[in-house]
Amino acid sequence: MGEKKDIFFQVVADRRSIRNYTKDKVSEEDLQLILESGRQAPSGENAQPWRFIVVKDEEGKNYLAKISKNASGRRFTGEFLSKQMQERFKTLQDEEKKLAAFKKLTSGDVSGFVGESDLILIVIGKKDVWDLPFDCSAAIENILLTVTSLDLGACWLVAPCIDIRDELKIKSYFDIPEEYKVVSIISVGQPARIPNARPRIPLQELVFKEKFGNRYYTE
Ligand SMILES: Cc1cc2nc3c(=O)[nH]c(=O)nc-3n(C[C@H](O)[C@H](O)[C@H](O)COP(=O)(O)O)c2cc1C
Repeated sequence: MGEKKDIFFQVVADRRSIRNYTKDKVSEEDLQLILESGRQAPSGENAQPWRFIVVKDEEGKNYLAKISKNASGRRFTGEFLSKQMQERFKTLQDEEKKLAAFKKLTSGDVSGFVGESDLILIVIGKKDVWDLPFDCSAAIENILLTVTSLDLGACWLVAPCIDIRDELKIKSYFDIPEEYKVVSIISVGQPARIPNARPRIPLQELVFKEKFGNRYYTE
C-alpha cells in the first residue's frame, strides 16, 4: 500500500507543463494508456461527455499551432494594452529582459510549441451535458498524470479554444459536429526540457477550519 502512495505522489509532484519536445514518437501502447486514463475519469451522472481527437499529421498540428499562436498573441496584446502585463512584470528590473518578454508574449510565440510535440489531443465534449467543463477537466488531469508516469510530457492548453472564432475554425478543420464544444488541446511528446516546478501557494493559505479565514494549518 505504502509503495502505491509513494509512486502516486511522485507522479503528482513530477508533473509539469512541458513546452519543449524532442522528435521522438509516443508509442501506440503508451497512447492507448493515456486515452484509457481519460476514459476512466469521473463525470457528473457518469455522462462521459468527452471525446478525443488524436492529431499526428504535421498539417493538423501546424494548424493548431497557428491558432494557438494567434490566440496567445491576441490575449497578451490585450494584457499589454490594459497594463496588466506591466503589473505582472513589475519586479523585473532589467528593462531589456522585460522588453524581450513583452515581445515574446505579444507575438504569440509562447504557444507555437504545440506544433513540435509528437501529437496533439483535442478534447471536445457534448454541449448538452451539465457538468461538461468539470468532466473534461477530470479526464484531462488523468491524462496529464498518466503522461508523467510514462516519462512523457504534456501541456494542457485552453488559450486556443476560448475565442469563439478560434473554436469555429478548429471545428470546421477537424469536422467536429455542432453539438460538441472544443474544451482544450493537449500537446504530448518526449520532453526536451523539464522546467523547474512553478511555485504553489502553501496549504496554510489555502485551507480553513470550519469557517473561511480560520487557518487549518498554522505551520
Ligand atoms: C485550465 C488550464 C489552462 C491552461 N492553458 C494554457 C495555455 O493556454 N497555454 C499554456 O502554455 N499553458 C496553459 N496551461 C498550463 C499552465 O500555465 C500551468 O499548468 C501552470 O503555469 C503551472 O505550471 P505546471 O503545470 O508546470 O505546474 C493551462 C493549465 C490549465 C490547468
